[in-house]
This record gives sequence, structure tokens and C-alpha cells, in this order.
Amino acid sequence: MALLNHTPFDNIHSQLDSSINPYVSMVESNDLERTLAIFHGEKLKGAKGNWREQFSAPPKKHILEIGCHLGATLCDYAELIPDYGFIGVDVTFKRVVTAAQRARQRGLDNVLIAMFNAKFIEQIFENNELDDVLVFFPDPWEKRRQRKHRLFSQGFIEDLYKVTKSGGGIWFKTDHKNYSNEVAKAFFDSSFRLTASNSLVHKYQLETTFQRKFRLQGKPYYEYKWSKI
Ligand SMILES: C[S@@+](CC[C@H](N)C(=O)[O-])C[C@H]1O[C@@H](n2cnc3c(N)ncnc32)[C@H](O)[C@@H]1O
Repeated sequence: MALLNHTPFDNIHSQLDSSINPYVSMVESNDLERTLAIFHGEKLKGAKGNWREQFSAPPKKHILEIGCHLGATLCDYAELIPDYGFIGVDVTFKRVVTAAQRARQRGLDNVLIAMFNAKFIEQIFENNELDDVLVFFPDPWEKRRQRKHRLFSQGFIEDLYKVTKSGGGIWFKTDHKNYSNEVAKAFFDSSFRLTASNSLVHKYQLETTFQRKFRLQGKPYYEYKWSKI
């Protein structure tokens, strides 16, 4: 995941060979009949504070899914709640391109797709710009040398607190018990409160791709909902 070593505004697609990864050139596709435009690199400049204007109709709420993968859960939520606006972010070319194509194929005009490392969330969203943030099965980066890639830290949770509105919240799921405990402790030490937000999203328990995979393997998962009072 080369993007994890870059800041959001780096145009890394221009440095990569699209004959090795065909999805690299596809993030720039202008074929808007078949795919949504993808917010990445320089196109993310100026997005902060202006996400509302990017939707074709102003949404009632703004929901961010971090690690939206191929867009399946994001699109299911967007279809269920058409008056909310959904932004999906991921860090691989294939995932964001597939998510953007899926949203277009399903005719969802309340979906936007972005590519950046969510660790930099505060550079991409203005204070109070988001209602809910969904983080389903983030990579646990189990090996000690990989730990630096873990998304959640006390600093990241403080950034989440800034970019979410009062009444909004965070919904976190993981199959990884240690990571779950670590994240729960960090939230308890933050200003978030252990309760669901008032958003409709929290009323629908949809099974994500990884959630299904773990269920079929007979593995449990852990989830928490926190809100900003
Ligand atoms: C284990 S998958 C879970 C996918 C999906 N949320 C689900 O539950 O099926 C984790 C996803 O998070 C993405 N990801 C990892 N680190 C990220 C980061 N720092 N910012 C944004 N997305 C990230 C990965 O590319 C991958 O698609």
C-alpha cells in the first residue's frame, strides 16, 4: 500500500507505471458514464470545508467510511438512505476505482470516492464537517514493525473529534481483540461518549465484506459506537 507513505496531496499516480497496475491510470478516468470522478492528490486541495458542494443535492448528513474497500457497504448504505451523503475513502487504486464504478453503475448520486491515508483526516475535512465516521475492520497491522501503520491513536481520535459535529459519532468494528481493547481505551480517554449517534446509519446493521468473511470462519467481532455530545 504505497499510499500509506504519502501525504494526501501527493500525485503518486503520476509517479507509478500503469502497465504494472492498470488501475493507476483509471483514477484519472473522465468516463463519467461508467465511473465517478475520484478525489485524490491535487484534486483534494480545496476539498476541506467544501464537501457539501460536491454532492449533486445537498445531503442531510455527511457520512465518511474509512477503508471503504470495493464500495459494497458504502453503496448499500447510500441506497438505503438516499438523503444522506456518503464519502468513501481507501488507499489502493483498485479499491477506489472499483468503488467509484460500483456507485456509478448503481446510479447513486449521493456517493463520493476519495483516495488518501485517513490518518490525515484533519487536512481533508473542516471542523464539524462530518456527521458520522464508519471504520469497519481496519487493518490491525499485527507485526511490531508494521504497528506505525495502525490508524487509531490518541491523536487520530482527537482529530476525529474535531471533524465530527455534535450529535455525530464513530462506529468501529474489528475482529482483532487486542486492537479493539486498545482503541476502546483510547476512546474512553477522549471526549467521545459510549453511545450511538442519532443518525439513521446506526439503525441499519449491514454485514461488510470482511464481517462476512469472519462470520464464515466462525470468528467473533467486536464493535463500539461513540458519539460527540
Ligand atoms: C480489512 S479491509 C476492511 C474493508 C471493509 N471496511 C470491510 O469491512 O469489509 C481494510 C480496508 O482499509 C483500507 N485502509 C487501510 N489503511 C487505510 C488508511 N490509512 N486510510 C484509508 N483506508 C485504509 C484498506 O485498503 C482496506 O480496503
